Amino acid sequence: MHGKRILLGITGGIAAYKIAYLIRILKKLGAEVKCIMTPASSDFISPLVVSTLSQNPVHIEFWNKQTGVWTNHVELALWADVFVIAPATANSIAKMANGLCDNLLLATYLSMKTKTIVCPAMDLDMYQHPSFKRNVATLFSDGVLVIPATKGELASGLEGEGRMEEPEVIAAYLSNYFNSQTNKSAETVLITAGPTYEAIDPVRFIGNHSSGKMGFALAESCLKRGMNVILVSGPTQLELHHPNLEIIAVKSAEQMLKAVSVNWDNCSIGIFAAAVADYRPVNQEAQKIKKKEETLTLELVKNPDILRWASENRNNAQKVIGFALETNNAEENALLKLNAKNLDMIVLNTLENKGAGFQGDTNKITILDKSNAIKEFDLKSKTAVAEDIIESILSLK
Ligand code: CTP
Repeated sequence: MHGKRILLGITGGIAAYKIAYLIRILKKLGAEVKCIMTPASSDFISPLVVSTLSQNPVHIEFWNKQTGVWTNHVELALWADVFVIAPATANSIAKMANGLCDNLLLATYLSMKTKTIVCPAMDLDMYQHPSFKRNVATLFSDGVLVIPATKGELASGLEGEGRMEEPEVIAAYLSNYFNSQTNKSAETVLITAGPTYEAIDPVRFIGNHSSGKMGFALAESCLKRGMNVILVSGPTQLELHHPNLEIIAVKSAEQMLKAVSVNWDNCSIGIFAAAVADYRPVNQEAQKIKKKEETLTLELVKNPDILRWASENRNNAQKVIGFALETNNAEENALLKLNAKNLDMIVLNTLENKGAGFQGDTNKITILDKSNAIKEFDLKSKTAVAEDIIESILSLK
């Protein structure tokens, strides 16, 4: 972070009081910090505090009424390596999404040539409001990065999602961001996640109950370790945003294979956690199938095995990790799969275990590797399970 120029935008939310601490962390890490505040934010944190900690004048208005000096927002935007808006209120995010610039902070945003990263902070109902979600989606498509709010106690006294991420986490995110800019050689991991949907007609599909949680937790664990991640995901409700993450959204197994095959050469590890549909309808009807007959027979054809494809098309340095979901003779079947698909490691889930499965937040796994080592783990959160899996992959010989 040393020498990086961070332009910090502060908008009018109660979380603004935490920004003093964020500035201190960034300064300690060697960054230069300049701050722009919206007029409303000075009710939550004093410009004197912000100026003292950042060791720079604070910019609030387009021009200083005492000195008559105009603040050049274009110059501020050109100075910055990154523009971080924290806290970002629902109001400011709505204005950014719509190109409004009725204060200096917003005018600077419109002049940015480098990345803008927003850290939303608001009450839980506002955070769930469709208009807020729509505005954030617009910011994503405009190339803005978002550090999602977390769950916890809110200023209103309510509990829920909407708390600005903690300053330490924002600082770590920024550090990762700058590393990813300079460290293009970081290891890249390819992960498949979620279900696949195999179309029957324009409105129906064959799918399964996979939530994608395991694959997303694996992606988070890799990102925390400074790796780049390409996450090829079937349809899920989950969201993840990180500068080192590329998400490729797919629906069918064939689309998943295509996304994997074009990216595989650039990856050193492949973790195949998706619940790929084994079969797809032979014909996809162009029109909605009408209920004319008493019975309807669908003819299915086998889908490509993506994990097998990756294993057969790997170089010596690439590691391939599969998952197995078994109901009987679990370890024996998992070992057969490990060998048949020539994997480095297989993660076994058994449906016999309470708490392990598709939609839940916990999982119980056994890891088998190509040296025939077998390691059984306790029932844990999917986040903790992801840590165990990544640790095991990194210690593979
Ligand atoms: N897999 C895949 N592509 C498929 C099917 C499975 O990439 N078309 C991957 C899964 O992501 C998982 C592993 O293969 O990592 C195991 O899938 P599973 O369905 O349990 O095994 P199969 O080999 O399909 O065997 P079976 O269904 O007969 O148990």
